[in-house]
Parts: sequence; C-alpha cells; structure tokens
Amino acid sequence: MRTIILTLLGVTALIFVSCKGDNKTDKITDAQKQEMRKSAKEFMTQLKGILFREMKAGGVQNAVAVCSDTAQVLTNNFGLQRGIYIRRISFKNRNKNDYPDEYESKVLQQFKQMQSEGKLSKQSERIEIVKENDHKYLRYMKPIFVGTACLNCHGSDRDISSAVKNILTEKYPDDKAVNYKAGDLRGAVSIKKLIN
Ligand code: HEC
Repeated sequence: MRTIILTLLGVTALIFVSCKGDNKTDKITDAQKQEMRKSAKEFMTQLKGILFREMKAGGVQNAVAVCSDTAQVLTNNFGLQRGIYIRRISFKNRNKNDYPDEYESKVLQQFKQMQSEGKLSKQSERIEIVKENDHKYLRYMKPIFVGTACLNCHGSDRDISSAVKNILTEKYPDDKAVNYKAGDLRGAVSIKKLIN
C-alpha cells in the first residue's frame, strides 16, 4: 500500500513538474509582444506610405497599378528581413494569396464577432503560441479597418472610378474586396514566427 501511495505521489509530482515546465516555455514575453506589435505597425505604415505617396503623385489609377505590382513583393521582403512570416488577410480578399489559413480564419471570425458587438477597436490584437506539425509558432493578429480613402479601391461602384475598375477587373478577375464602407473590418495583419 505504502509503495502504491508513494508511486502515485511520484507520478503526480512528475506530471506537475512537466506541466509546469511546459507552461513556462509557453509564456509570451513582453519582448515578444513588443516585437510583434512593432513589426505589424512598421509593415502597415510602409504599405500605407507607398499607397498614399502614389495616390498623391499620380492619382488612384496610378496607385492601383503600383500596389498590385509591389504589395506582394514588399510583403515577402518585409518578412524575410525580419525572420517572420507576415501578410494581410481577408475573407473578402482581392489577391488570392491573401485568404486566411485555418488559424487566421478562426481569429478573424472572432474579430468579426467582436466588431458586430461593438467590441473591436484599433487597440485590439491577438497573440498566442500555437503548435503546428511539431513546431511552435508565435502567432499575432491585428484588425485592419476601412477608412474613407480606401473606398477609392474597395468601395461600391459609386466610389470606384471606371478607370480604376478596369485595372482591378483585369488584374483580379475574382476580386472580392469591394463594397466596403468606412469603419468596416477589412481583414487583419497576421504574423507567424517559428519559436522552436
Ligand atoms: C489605389 C487603390 C487602393 C487603395 C486606395 C487601397 N487599396 Fe487595398 N488593395 C489594393 C490592391 C490592388 C490590393 C491587392 C494587392 C495585391 O495584389 O497584393 C489591395 C489589397 C488590400 C488588402 C489585402 C487583402 C486582399 O484583399 O488581398 C488589404 C487588407 C487592403 N488592401 C486594405 C486597404 C485599406 C485598409 C485601405 C485604406 C487605407 C486600402 N486598402 C486602400 C488597392 C487599394
């Protein structure tokens, strides 16, 4: 009897220790949080910077052409330089590469739900450690909202000029990223980083 109790105690202790150990490695540090926030912010600022610069320089029509040629390249390079995987995703996507994966779909769906309850804001974000195929990843997501200037290319037929519409139809035959209104949830910026 004594041995059984001792063994049981031993096993319990072992389980406790190993769980504790796991939790410890799974804790997200402040430094990791800051890194994700900084990358998301810099990435969005860079994209918006190019967009508004091009709109100012040559109008919306010119900006569509530049955006469609550079957005994906810029996105890939930004991630490569920082050792992260970063992109923008949306259920109503323009570029076919921007459709969410399983994890992103789950979180974006939650953002949508929060938005409908008036609980989503510019400060909202989601950060967690996720295990996928024996690897652990830090995953970060932050909502993207539609502003008035975005309607030039993501609004209704009344908002989008026919010249811009022509370019969009030619480059993105399956374009779903239209008919948005200011304040709508457009999608999210998503970061994935391998941690072990
Ligand atoms: C000049 C036209 C133009 C304007 C203005 C514009 N976009 Fe876009 N947007 C595009 C194009 C073109 C793409 C597809 C880029 C690509 O091929 O990667 C795109 C893609 C996106 C994506 C990636 C998801 C997807 O649908 O593929 C998001 C998110 C996005 N835009 C948000 C915004 C927001 C927010 C604004 C306002 C701040 C905005 N856009 C303004 C043209 C525009």
